Amino acid sequence: MKAVQMHGYGGVEQLRYEEVPTPIPGPNEVLVKLAATSVNPIDWKIRRGDRKTTMTLQFPVILGRDIAGEISAAAAGGSDFKVGQKVMALGSRTYAEFVTVPTAALVPVPEGLDIEQAGALPLVVSTGAELMERIGPRRGDTVLVTGALGGVGRTAVYVALERGARVIVGVRARQQQQAQALQAAQIVALDSDSEVSALPELDAIADTVGGEVIGNLLPKLKRRGVLGSVLGSPKAAEGRDIRIETFSAQPNATRLARMTEAVRSGKLAIPIARKFNLSEAAAAQQLAETGHVNGKVVLVA
Ligand SMILES: NC(=O)c1ccc[n+]([C@@H]2O[C@H](COP(=O)([O-])OP(=O)(O)OC[C@H]3O[C@@H](n4cnc5c(N)ncnc54)[C@H](OP(=O)(O)O)[C@@H]3O)[C@@H](O)[C@H]2O)c1
Repeated sequence: MKAVQMHGYGGVEQLRYEEVPTPIPGPNEVLVKLAATSVNPIDWKIRRGDRKTTMTLQFPVILGRDIAGEISAAAAGGSDFKVGQKVMALGSRTYAEFVTVPTAALVPVPEGLDIEQAGALPLVVSTGAELMERIGPRRGDTVLVTGALGGVGRTAVYVALERGARVIVGVRARQQQQAQALQAAQIVALDSDSEVSALPELDAIADTVGGEVIGNLLPKLKRRGVLGSVLGSPKAAEGRDIRIETFSAQPNATRLARMTEAVRSGKLAIPIARKFNLSEAAAAQQLAETGHVNGKVVLVA
């Protein structure tokens, strides 16, 4: 099969579309023929070497977390999933024509959901939903979501609204118009000091941006409030009397199925900005990494 292999840390020239052995599914795994995967920030962060100290890699490696496609070999020992069935999952090594996936992680692609859209969902919707579950806002709580127009942020906003929270979406000033579609109670430009200082006291912050942005917002978080972050605990949070929730998203088929249904039914939008062929993964990462793409960058087989 063909796959995109990363041969070392560095720029996108480290990514090569080349012939590799087709993986063999282990016990309780299926082989999925890729229809679509997507570029997530973690892919280019790993490639750049940002995770060098915490994640040991043996090159060459295949990157990628999202998979949507068709089962081409069923699990040894049997499962409810059949050859030919369209499935999606939060997986690994997904920049490849064939991917092995544990049956426990599989979710059927629902009727009416485009398979290329399905390939854009697993990591961002799983993460955004878990972020808000961990924060656990109650009805009426004021919750600020940063990076609210990103894939993780959009999902966190959706789940917070579902729970009856009063949601404030934090975006860049130039994204404010676009943010109206999120149907939040308030929009704040995170790059405006005056807008940030005019914020009300917050019960919780769901952070998908980190850095200076979260540092500027923390004084607005009430005592014993909750900071949920997908970027680890920020330095600025040290010594504050708050609850901090950080995590690294793991496959959870129930959560993924629930969020996928929200997308299928049109309640949650995860827009696709660009599609590339799998063979063009280097160009796709280059685009995603420059930012301001306004949606997912999808790789199709
Ligand atoms: N812990 C985990 O398991 C986990 C899982 C998935 C993702 N993540 C992390 O979560 C983050 C978000 O992921 P994603 O897939 O949602 O990315 P994304 O789709 O690129 O969304 C990021 C959003 O934040 C905005 N943003 C960036 N910097 C900003 C700033 N300084 N002020 C205001 N807005 C800003 C971006 O706007 P522009 O496009 O204009 O920059 C974009 O709308 C990434 O850092 C990713 O690595 C963690």
